[in-house]
Amino acid sequence: MSKLWTELKIGNMILPHRLAMAPMTRSRALADGVPGELTAEYYGQRASLGLIISEGTQPSDDGQGYMNTPGIYTEAHIEGWKKITSRVHEEGGHIFIQLMHVGRISHPDNTPHHRQPVAPSAIAPKVEMFTAEGMKEAPTPRAFSKEEINEVIQEFRTAASAAIKAGADGVEIHGANGYLIQQFLSENANQRNDEYGGTIENRARFAIEVTKAVVDEIGADKTGFRISPSSTLHDIEEGEFGPDVYRFLVAELKKLDLAYLHVMHVGNEPLLKELRQLWSNPLLVNRAGRPLEQLTTDLDHDLADVVPVGSWALANPDFVERIKNNASLNDPDRNTFYGGGAEGYTDYPFLSK
Ligand SMILES: Cc1cc2nc3c(=O)[nH]c(=O)nc-3n(C[C@H](O)[C@H](O)[C@H](O)COP(=O)(O)O)c2cc1C
Repeated sequence: MSKLWTELKIGNMILPHRLAMAPMTRSRALADGVPGELTAEYYGQRASLGLIISEGTQPSDDGQGYMNTPGIYTEAHIEGWKKITSRVHEEGGHIFIQLMHVGRISHPDNTPHHRQPVAPSAIAPKVEMFTAEGMKEAPTPRAFSKEEINEVIQEFRTAASAAIKAGADGVEIHGANGYLIQQFLSENANQRNDEYGGTIENRARFAIEVTKAVVDEIGADKTGFRISPSSTLHDIEEGEFGPDVYRFLVAELKKLDLAYLHVMHVGNEPLLKELRQLWSNPLLVNRAGRPLEQLTTDLDHDLADVVPVGSWALANPDFVERIKNNASLNDPDRNTFYGGGAEGYTDYPFLSK
């Protein structure tokens, strides 16, 4: 029998099954980063997924890259998130807030202070950003000073503390998808020649220091970490030593005894197998874009303990019930992924409501 319907302990949570909701930006927060009124309903509807990993949430003004993404660094943010976490708990679920600092994947039009983005090195990513005036090229960022790196680490620490104050069960540190932490890991976005660039150890240093600060603040049992080895999303080139960076990083994170490691998997199968061997705590594997028949393959092959789902969860608030009953799924509507109101957010139909 598939272990899909068996319980799993992650940190202090007992999850009822092996599905979870992958983090998904929905750009429906207010302009000041306070999550909007509908967001509690959206996550509450999806509580049966057991563990919800929230949309990427910025730990500071600099950490924001997109319009209307939520923050977790002001009292108003904390009050906004409280409504969400209490709703998810009332419905019997758990929620980790994903801490996402975008680094160079940003645009001054989209940040509260409208300043030049900051990143490991002053190298523009070859991406365009959606702004209120349409698509614009991401500008060349300013490189962090060493003092600023320490400040950003402290921002992650205080954001983690704020997430717990807001009632979250924990935080997921976003080390994936070409944002700040993966920029430090990669070869093309990080050309620093201080202790944060160059060697594998140096490129992994920022990720490890952020994680240590978060663990020190809220505890390892409330801290998860997301990686996306080999992904080139948002103009990332990890270079020939890319896999070695992950071997080193994951071995270091293992020493911290985190609640979980979350791999956004895009295809380096041997590396995934290696990381599975290396990592002894729960491993979440989100295999991007797989067909439904392969939902449990990684569980069955003991490559994963949990399989988070993204767009299926977005379009099916009762995804778990539908899988249990072998029912058909609603299709996600890409036009309503980002921004707007209830349409394509809280109005996807349930099986029997
Ligand atoms: C609308 C949308 C927004 C997303 N936003 C985030 C995000 O904020 N943080 C993140 O780590 N991944 C984000 N992702 C990636 C998903 O977590 C997931 O890895 C991806 O959708 C592949 O899984 P799926 O095939 O099950 O959808 C997003 C995906 C979608 C579709």
